[in-house]
Amino acid sequence: MPTMQTVFVPLGARAYDVRIAQDLIVDSASHIAPFLRRPRVAIVSDDNVAQAHLPALVAGLQASGIAHSTLTLPAGETTKTWPEFTRTVEWLLAEKIERQDVVIALGGGVIGDLVGFAAAVLRRGIRFIQIPTSLLAQVDSSVGGKTGINAPQGKNLIGAFHQPSLVLADISALDTLTPRDFLAGYGEVIKYGLLGDASFFDWLETNGPNLVQGDRDARAHAVRRSVEMKAEIVVRDETEQGDRALLNLGHTFCHALEAATGYSDRLLHGEGVAIGCALAFELSARLGLCSQEDPSRVRAHLRSMGTKVDLADIAGDLPTAETLLDLMGQDKKVVDGQLRFILANGIGAAFVTTQVPRDAVLSVLKDALAAR
Ligand code: GLY
Repeated sequence: MPTMQTVFVPLGARAYDVRIAQDLIVDSASHIAPFLRRPRVAIVSDDNVAQAHLPALVAGLQASGIAHSTLTLPAGETTKTWPEFTRTVEWLLAEKIERQDVVIALGGGVIGDLVGFAAAVLRRGIRFIQIPTSLLAQVDSSVGGKTGINAPQGKNLIGAFHQPSLVLADISALDTLTPRDFLAGYGEVIKYGLLGDASFFDWLETNGPNLVQGDRDARAHAVRRSVEMKAEIVVRDETEQGDRALLNLGHTFCHALEAATGYSDRLLHGEGVAIGCALAFELSARLGLCSQEDPSRVRAHLRSMGTKVDLADIAGDLPTAETLLDLMGQDKKVVDGQLRFILANGIGAAFVTTQVPRDAVLSVLKDALAAR
């Protein structure tokens, strides 16, 4: 039995564990069984993840006498749309998945978000278990209950808050990620240090290279600390009336850049978060909120990790600063037409504000574009 770390998310009737360990997928049946009213589950995954991890999950279930059926969706962000969502819900109904049954989401953020949303609406809500296989999903999207799909008007605009019943984060699954996907997830890891834990950022500066090289203990620590921080914020503000927006550090810039690059491979979400964090610190320094050294330190660390840091790292054309600012206005975090930014008084000291002069944002964007 691998050494397991557990982060409890104390949300009353919706409380659950996030369990973090190596080889957890192989061993997942023993974790899943206590949640079952009858010995069967429905699994939804994607082509890539199913190839890498479904056999281990299924072997464990079979060995424990748990029947399963599986739906495999195409890998990629375009799966997070109405047609694949409808297909998933109708498949679950065709499989006669009942109100007391459990659906398993085996995959990255796309599968977790879509399956969570399907579970939220199926028979007015059934339970689901997240088995996140990407770093981004392990440290962010599988925890906290945000579920949903994309609309033509923007990302994640259709969805529901629906907490999972259990999250099983298998650190060994991270071995199968491409270096680019791992580093994209790292954008969300660094976000936690920057928003609320300077000592975690220090730790990442020292241990980041070990994480990339595959040190599983270091990876387990980074996932656990990220999940602890996320859980603490989600418990304070489950439905994002206030503090939960801290988790969007870097995301206002990121969402504009993702829209500008057509949600394509030119910029992965976590890469946009990394660039967005660097820009948020630049903006904070220019507004006199944090020292000039802070944005330099953020950028130096991201650069040393080999992830995207600057707008110059995005291939192809980008629109003007004015257009990027307009795209920020489409963000779903806009309240009463006011853009909400997450700025920082220093590393580990972020806060939410709508009091950001438009000119300051424009000048940060103009300078970042000019440096390309
Ligand atoms: N990914 C941000 C949140 O869960 O609130």
